[in-house]
Amino acid sequence: MGAIMWRRQLSVGQPSIDEDHKHLIEYLNQLDTALNARVFQPQRVAVILVKLLEYTREHFAREEKIMEAVKYPGLAEHRQQHAEGVRAISDLSNAFARTPNHEHAERIYTFTAEWLVRHIIMQDTQITPYVRGVWL
Ligand SMILES: [Fe+2]
Repeated sequence: MGAIMWRRQLSVGQPSIDEDHKHLIEYLNQLDTALNARVFQPQRVAVILVKLLEYTREHFAREEKIMEAVKYPGLAEHRQQHAEGVRAISDLSNAFARTPNHEHAERIYTFTAEWLVRHIIMQDTQITPYVRGVWL
């Protein structure tokens, strides 16, 4: 576990998508900090989780709109991956809501951090050629 650092490899080349990703990483880092606190505070984690989930949904909608605007051919598949990601994170989040302990919170962090970084690098960056030079 550790804070995620923004790096060039994560750049999609579309300013608002890159900004959104930086915000998502910031929420994940807040979660990481809460997990490393001397005293575990489930309420603190719950507050961060609500924001993270809400922002994730908003971001996916924004990203899909941009993909639509530039006629990205992989949109349908990408939409599905977003839906699967949201479902998996919501499931983990529900498990934490039922049993708000450190283990459940850590599971959310580990899964979401890995999922997001992999998704950005492997999937989101595929739209780079479509957004290059496009003013949105
Ligand atoms: Fe995406």
